[in-house]
Amino acid sequence: MFRSRWIFVAVPVLLLFLHLGAVAQSVAVQPTPAILSVQLEKTLATVSPTLYGLMTEEINYSYDGGLYAELVRNRAIKDADWMPGGWTLVQNRSAAASMELERETGPSADLERSLRLKVMKASAEDPAGVQNDGFWGIPVRGTTTYKASFYAKADHAAVGPITVSLVNDDTGEVLAAATSEPLTSEWKQYSLELKTGSISTSTANHMRLTIARPGSVWFSLVSLFPPTYHDRANGNRVDLMEKLAAMNPKFLRFPGGNYLEGDHISERFNWKKTVGPLVNRPTHHSPWGYNSSDGMGLLEFLTWCEDLKMQPVLAVYAGYSLQQEHIDPGPALAPYVQDALDEIEYITGGPETKWGAARAQNGHPKPFPLQYVEIGNEDAFDQSHTYDARFAQFYDAIRKHYPQLQIIGTTGVKSRTPDLIDEHYYRFQDDFYNDAHHYDNYDRKGPKIFVGEWATMEAAPTPNFGGALADAAWMTGLERNSDIVALASYAPLLTNVNPSGSQWRTNLIGYNALSSYGSPSYYAQVIFGNHLGSEVVASKLEGAGARFYHSVTFDREKGMLFVKLVNASPDAQAIDLVLSRPVKKTAELVTLRAKTKEATNTIDSPEAIVPVTSTIDSAGSTFRHVVPPYSIQVLTLSVLE
Ligand code: AHR
Repeated sequence: MFRSRWIFVAVPVLLLFLHLGAVAQSVAVQPTPAILSVQLEKTLATVSPTLYGLMTEEINYSYDGGLYAELVRNRAIKDADWMPGGWTLVQNRSAAASMELERETGPSADLERSLRLKVMKASAEDPAGVQNDGFWGIPVRGTTTYKASFYAKADHAAVGPITVSLVNDDTGEVLAAATSEPLTSEWKQYSLELKTGSISTSTANHMRLTIARPGSVWFSLVSLFPPTYHDRANGNRVDLMEKLAAMNPKFLRFPGGNYLEGDHISERFNWKKTVGPLVNRPTHHSPWGYNSSDGMGLLEFLTWCEDLKMQPVLAVYAGYSLQQEHIDPGPALAPYVQDALDEIEYITGGPETKWGAARAQNGHPKPFPLQYVEIGNEDAFDQSHTYDARFAQFYDAIRKHYPQLQIIGTTGVKSRTPDLIDEHYYRFQDDFYNDAHHYDNYDRKGPKIFVGEWATMEAAPTPNFGGALADAAWMTGLERNSDIVALASYAPLLTNVNPSGSQWRTNLIGYNALSSYGSPSYYAQVIFGNHLGSEVVASKLEGAGARFYHSVTFDREKGMLFVKLVNASPDAQAIDLVLSRPVKKTAELVTLRAKTKEATNTIDSPEAIVPVTSTIDSAGSTFRHVVPPYSIQVLTLSVLE
């Protein structure tokens, strides 16, 4: 039963202003309260259980220098063709040495290069060697064990062992050190543990590999790992994984984005070259201007899903690369289709299958669940216009072998009907405010929608509060329509904030070598992802000022009603909630707000804007609530029987 607007005319204006006093004394208020009526008996749509997830790729040093916890830059000496970039010589006092990129020798056919250190003069007091400065510094913490490893060979056995040390840039203090066995003239991997004592945390450090005698040494795959999330070998950075976990994401779309396609066919994400021992991963050039170590390979994407209880949304390379290279549909494309089938088998196959057995051998006998496979990325940009036929070839093969999979197209096709279409929206605030009802009247007979990349592009390197408001406005539309919007993911997810660390203007989470922060948009994602019912129930908002958005979802089993309110205006908005069922008087209120749209979080001020949880004690089947200016709020109401 709804109460109509006139009932509230009698509410004393004074009371309203008393209420607003708690918001801010100088706040202007929309002249009339709005009415939000909610009919809990009327379910309009089932909320997709996979609505909110993550989209990721190697951009902005997302993995190398980001989530992937490796601390050594250019560890495989493959980042540049003319020099061992990221490495410098150590030759103090009387020591004398030189170094060069060696193209002809390396520890494997895939890592065929190395860094050659030639030491003319060195001693135990004055060792010579090489140093690596990491990705804008090497973060070192106290009382921590680091795992170092490297491949090396020497021109003669008398060269002796290698000492690996972590050294502070400013003081020269050795923070931790360990020494290997003596080298031999054959390539061999050496592993060491470096333990720090009671030191203060900093990023102004480097790693050194030194010898105490003259001779030549070749190095490759030099690695240093701090403790990782869930203690996974070759794993991920703890702070970033915790931030992602807090979003409560339901899926991970990988490996791209443009990173899937590569600039050239030879630079695509060739999954078979990203699995198995690191020494057998050749690395590859990414379209975002730097080399990828491929330490974050197919299996690492999958264990990342496992760690955060997300389902994989696998994008398979579909024969189109960014510099307008494509593979003609037909026999030429067949090996690429087979690669995709093999990839699906690697993920889902039992150990009796060829690729399932390979996965087991790589350390994960248990198959992973898989529901969604995407064919390509943004193929509307392919000027050869072959996507329809390429899609059909992939679609038919995948359908035949894996009829249970949902197949996602990246643009419209005529020859087949994809289960979902991936739509991308990079926009400014006003575009999202004006289009928050985009899906309200969408064709419900066609494929479902995967909003696989979207973001309000306001501010750099991470969005400001204006961005968060527009994001939240847009998300209310995604939720209201999550009968057709099955999945949605903000992009890009991660950015290194160091100079030249970012290749995209606006990104969700920022970090340097040591610490990370969530942008206001990140917190909007956190509160939306953690307050979502299973049904969209009927709701009607009347009389709200401009730029006010809402969505209402209900978890009938738990009796919890989630009312999301987005006020992107500088005026407070009073709302009279009129619910068709009684609710408990006490309700939870989560608020994310800022004084201005320009306000933001940064690496130095990471928590200027964070959600605040409070309680309201005056909820009921009708009650007044005032939404502060520039705010995103979620009311969680407990519905009574
Ligand atoms: O998210 C950045 C890029 O935007 C993605 O790689 C690409 O799919 C899109 O054009």
